[in-house]
Amino acid sequence: MFPLSKSGPIAQRGLQTVIRTSIGSRSFHAAKKAHLPSLLARPRTYATSTHATSTAAAADPIVLTESRKATPNVHNGKKTLVLLGTGWGSTTILKTLDTSKYNVVVISPRNYFLFTPLLPSCTVGTTESRSIMEPIRHIIGRRSKDIRFYEAQCTDIDMSKKELVLEQSTADGAPDQGTSTRINYDYLVVGVGGTYNTFGTPGVEKHACFLKEMGDASKIRRRLKDAIEKASFANISDAERDRLLHMVVVGGGPTGVEFAGELHDLIAEDLRRWVPELASKIRITLVEALPNVLPSFDKKLVFYTERMFKKIGINLLTGTTVQKVDEKTLTVRNAATGSETEIPYGTIVWAAGIRARQFAHTLRAKVPDVQTSGRGLIIDDYLRVQGTEDIWALGDCTVSKNAPLAQVASQQGKWLSKAFNHMALDGNTDAVNGSSLIATKTKPFVYSSNGSLAYIGGEKAIAELPFFNKSIVAGGPLTSVFWKAYCLWELSSVRSSLSVATDWVKRAMFGRTISVD
Ligand SMILES: Cc1cc2nc3c(=O)[nH]c(=O)nc-3n(C[C@H](O)[C@H](O)[C@H](O)COP(=O)(O)OP(=O)(O)OC[C@H]3O[C@@H](n4cnc5c(N)ncnc54)[C@H](O)[C@@H]3O)c2cc1C
Ligand SMILES: NC(=O)c1ccc[n+]([C@@H]2O[C@H](COP(=O)([O-])OP(=O)(O)OC[C@H]3O[C@@H](n4cnc5c(N)ncnc54)[C@H](O)[C@@H]3O)[C@@H](O)[C@H]2O)c1
Repeated sequence: MFPLSKSGPIAQRGLQTVIRTSIGSRSFHAAKKAHLPSLLARPRTYATSTHATSTAAAADPIVLTESRKATPNVHNGKKTLVLLGTGWGSTTILKTLDTSKYNVVVISPRNYFLFTPLLPSCTVGTTESRSIMEPIRHIIGRRSKDIRFYEAQCTDIDMSKKELVLEQSTADGAPDQGTSTRINYDYLVVGVGGTYNTFGTPGVEKHACFLKEMGDASKIRRRLKDAIEKASFANISDAERDRLLHMVVVGGGPTGVEFAGELHDLIAEDLRRWVPELASKIRITLVEALPNVLPSFDKKLVFYTERMFKKIGINLLTGTTVQKVDEKTLTVRNAATGSETEIPYGTIVWAAGIRARQFAHTLRAKVPDVQTSGRGLIIDDYLRVQGTEDIWALGDCTVSKNAPLAQVASQQGKWLSKAFNHMALDGNTDAVNGSSLIATKTKPFVYSSNGSLAYIGGEKAIAELPFFNKSIVAGGPLTSVFWKAYCLWELSSVRSSLSVATDWVKRAMFGRTISVD
């Protein structure tokens, strides 16, 4: 435990209070039990996209049309609410909405919810990938058999016709234009999230790995494995071996810091046992443009993390910006001296920030005079997309005073589903303009921070938690236990919590594996 300036006992009492508060009035067992029946229930199977369409269209309120002419919405007297995305924002709506009041359609190229806080640990095999992927069919199955899911990405919108264009994805994630389909909405919630931001830095797209989606974690694992196996050959030069074993992380935000910490654990706890001759040669360098890592955290936690990184051998290059990435080297520029240096690397992970996904920009372009921010969709305090009607947005694809965080997206999702539930209670879902109706009936959304937690490696985590009107900060092994408990609690189902707990036990008993096919 790292009690920082507050006295240890106070900090610890604070932590206990927070644990109790976060669990709240509901008991852990009662809350988790609520998921149990759904584990016993057989998950429903649905046909996907275009096939589902043709059979569903005749009898169903949700009308997907393969022709360019979309069918108007008059369905069972219910309005069609389309949720884009299966991330923190949209999934929270799905879990809390009164789904009997709307024809709910979920559209996302990803057929699962991803628990992002444990994504860095999947890159090195501390946690198994599937443990943190909750199938969207399971979540839907627990709510209502009438909810539709289409595995596709929304690529365009005609707001005058209230019509969306959907396309399935090609193997590399791009829209497959041959699968173009249209669907109507009455109310639309955009929760398409963000993607990595290269800031146009040359060579990043081609040579770096990212850490945003599960596919990224698998790619990192493969690159690490390849670099280590290649370095074991006797016929390569020492310089080439050093290059292969140099792992560079760009970005000292929480993603970069957590990944560097996990990578350190893999080397210290596993590779030292299995490949000792190579493990001692592996170097981790974290490059951060600003003078310190973790700019959004309390200064004490920043210094604590930097001290810990130094102690465990993670090389910190702060005040240094990556200018260019080539196949085997990256070029960095020191802010103080202006000098440029070429650094050989074997694996590079780019965690330098995010930007809104493409669909947010497509929607912005429909109302360019109002949607003037290149960072994403401008929303108001009622989460309404400015310049549009009956369209709301939440999470990382938006621009607001809140940071792009899972807890922000999820609180916005809760707020929005409550607002929709209210609207349905009033029997007013037929109102001409849902957006203004919600605004007049509900209080504006206000984000309330539950604090910040991050794992930094070596069985240590840092925490900044609200405590009455102040915040307490803590770091160390006990905080890491708290972080783990918090993750287990926050995971979206009993299945996921059990899987992750089992992964951690397996890791403790048998070590990690970065085997990939
Ligand atoms: C490694 C990592 C660790 C993190 N750890 C934390 C943490 O500990 N605490 C925290 O608060 N935050 C954390 N975050 C941030 C958090 O994950 C994001 O803020 C959160 O995911 C945002 O939720 P969202 O719903 O806006 O978007 P996402 O969760 O990204 O979901 C977006 C969804 O939209 C779908 N989609 C994309 N394009 C389309 C389209 N065209 N049409 C339809 N659907 C589409 C995607 O497939 C996805 O399902 C972390 C992020 C990362 C990368
Ligand atoms: N544990 C957590 O709470 C957690 C974990 C991961 C992510 N998140 C959240 O997700 C969001 C994204 O986080 P993130 O860490 O991916 O991004 P970030 O924007 O928080 O950090 C990116 C860092 O990269 C640096 N950078 C940018 N360009 C650079 C360059 N060319 N060279 C060197 N450094 C460069 C920036 O200065 C910045 O510090 C944030 O809101 C974050 O708080 C939270």
